[in-house]
Amino acid sequence: MAEENKGKKPNYGYTAVKYFAYMGVIGFIGLCVALIGSFLTPPLSTLLMLIGIPVAFVGFWIAVSYVVLYNSLFKREAQEKLWGEITKLSKIRGDEKILDVGCGMGRASIRLAKQLTTGKVTGIDIYGGVSGTSPEPARRNAKIEGVADRVEFKYGNVLDIPFKDNTFDVVNASSVLHEIHGLENQQKAMQEIYRVLKPGGKFVTLEILRAPKLFFLMLFFGFVWSPKEHWTNLIKQTGLENLRAFVLKALPDIGIFVAEKPRK
Ligand SMILES: C[S@@+](CC[C@H](N)C(=O)[O-])C[C@H]1O[C@@H](n2cnc3c(N)ncnc32)[C@H](O)[C@@H]1O
Repeated sequence: MAEENKGKKPNYGYTAVKYFAYMGVIGFIGLCVALIGSFLTPPLSTLLMLIGIPVAFVGFWIAVSYVVLYNSLFKREAQEKLWGEITKLSKIRGDEKILDVGCGMGRASIRLAKQLTTGKVTGIDIYGGVSGTSPEPARRNAKIEGVADRVEFKYGNVLDIPFKDNTFDVVNASSVLHEIHGLENQQKAMQEIYRVLKPGGKFVTLEILRAPKLFFLMLFFGFVWSPKEHWTNLIKQTGLENLRAFVLKALPDIGIFVAEKPRK
């Protein structure tokens, strides 16, 4: 590690926290409405309480659920476990060319880069703001983690991956595909991933899985994610083979899917 980065800690960000924060604000507005109602007389007080209390409950419930999400996905120990699993399943030798689509602040790219000797990771993202608005935070993290020579970050859309066919040994998509809206776009993203994978190359993806308990945790926010069958169907439809699906049972369940491009 370079002298100037000694003692610095990487910052992988609080992915999508703003949506949960908005729900907290909505909850607070609901609480204010209910409180105002409590000072008035019926029927206005009843009306304001009937609106304010459920809004406050839903808003605060979803906002607080971020703590669980954070603990299961983004906390250091959770990351060690998840990316440890990803690197194990990817069977990284050390010389691979790896593409990390939707790399955000480099959480997965940097962990994968740590497994490499002569290989290289390229992280691409549209930097739309969910986790960073430019490649700079990811580059800073790579320097702090001592892998800047093995990883690069640039703008790139998974719907139109800026690389030639058959370029990568591994393509990783960690918690990204649920952000691609509509089945058609998800199929397009998968075709692009397939195109840039070398024959025999591996695709690895991680997604929170929609299950009844996800709705208990996040109420209607549970619709953001899809069930396991959705991902297995999508991956199979693309033509990838040897699909293996691993479910890490927790609140929420997390699925890791690994598949290969046929050698032909
Ligand atoms: C939930 S974040 C996950 C970031 C990172 N993989 C991680 O594990 O921390 C999803 C990322 O996907 C990116 N993303 C969304 N749509 C994308 C697209 N069409 N092409 C590339 N990246 C995209 C977002 O900008 C965001 O950084």
